[in-house]
Amino acid sequence: MDMVSIIRKKRDKGKLTKEEIYFFINGVTEGTIPDYQTSALLMAIVLNGMDEEETYYLTEAMMKSGDILDLSEVEGFKCDKHSTGGVGDKITMIIAPLAASLGIKVPMFSGPGLGHTGGTTDKLDSIPGFKTLLTEEEFIESLKKVGIANSIQSKNITPADKKLYALRDVTATVESIPLITASIMSKKLACGADGLILDVKFGKGAFMKTKEDAENLAKSLLKMAPVRNIKAVALIDDMNEPLGYNIGNALEIIETFEVLKGKKVDDLLEVSVEIVKRMLELKGDGENAEERIYKAIEDGSALKKYAEWIEFSGGTPEVINDYSLFPSCENKTDIKAEKSGYVSEINSYSIGMSAVYLKAGRLKKEDTIDYGAGVVLNKKVGDCVEKGETILTLHYNDTRIPLNEIIFLAKSAFSISSEKVEKTKRIAKVVK
Ligand code: URA
Repeated sequence: MDMVSIIRKKRDKGKLTKEEIYFFINGVTEGTIPDYQTSALLMAIVLNGMDEEETYYLTEAMMKSGDILDLSEVEGFKCDKHSTGGVGDKITMIIAPLAASLGIKVPMFSGPGLGHTGGTTDKLDSIPGFKTLLTEEEFIESLKKVGIANSIQSKNITPADKKLYALRDVTATVESIPLITASIMSKKLACGADGLILDVKFGKGAFMKTKEDAENLAKSLLKMAPVRNIKAVALIDDMNEPLGYNIGNALEIIETFEVLKGKKVDDLLEVSVEIVKRMLELKGDGENAEERIYKAIEDGSALKKYAEWIEFSGGTPEVINDYSLFPSCENKTDIKAEKSGYVSEINSYSIGMSAVYLKAGRLKKEDTIDYGAGVVLNKKVGDCVEKGETILTLHYNDTRIPLNEIIFLAKSAFSISSEKVEKTKRIAKVVK
């Protein structure tokens, strides 16, 4: 078997065999295939696709390219969640304590953010003392004791994906449903959970621009669940508007506390409740799910779980009731509406990039971030606004940032219409 024949076959729209796919992935992992051949095959896959069977073997081969976590010593149903990334997406920190308070074990691996969507690791890092890198023993202990474990991946999980993703990024070969499917699912399947909720986002602030593309990706991701025999469900979720009101690390954590203290942030509650409900259903414990979820908020049990999680992770649980313990900003700039009407759009991408320029996120991997910085929205789509009213506030410490450009960008994210605008639901569909 040789790479030239494999590349030629895919270039000519052929179907790769299991052996050819394993040959490719093993070669990438061992470093025996030069980058130019890997890139050529990736481009042929982008152009000519892969069918379900090829994608299945690609996912399986990538999953097996490194370590596979064994969580069998942790009792109970272990359910993970994956979001394809969005602006203001702090759902993980709401659903993990909620699900754990209802008896689900939530193992999660997360990473830092890059570009306009923030990373869960950065958000948790804004909690004073919180450790986001756990050893395998600590991870398992956290899962057993608290019911939640989150860490940066320290084991050698899917090394083939690391190499492929780095090449895809610089060869315009990211946008391919089979490649995205194998990349996401190989990592998720290697992490040892019994169930998985996929939160596939579409819209201006998302990787998939249309609902149809998001649905196609979701269906493709779900078809890979049998590779490790896990149970999975996908939500198709609108990301045209940021999730919640706060965008930025400490600001987002504060908002998750607020929601678990009972604040009614409609979109955050809609998505979080649906995810936990689906987790309970996958566990086989779906009766009165919604009622039990709201009760876990009302009686404080989810917030108590959150405090236990912070404490176990070395953080200061007092932050839950004393937000002054968080990093914060010396400078705040309000942006006002230029006309009266109804908010018809808040462009997630522009808001996400405004937060990055305020130093809440990174443009390059090496960039340092300001955990206190970010954007706080004062209005959401459908809200009525008066001319001169504050629509959002920028929080920042670094005064060298190009403030006028950021103000322009953040202001241009808002569209105001004279016609009444209906608030729309975030979840467009659930795919099983
Ligand atoms: N996220 C991933 O992990 N992989 C992709 O290919 C795209 C998004």
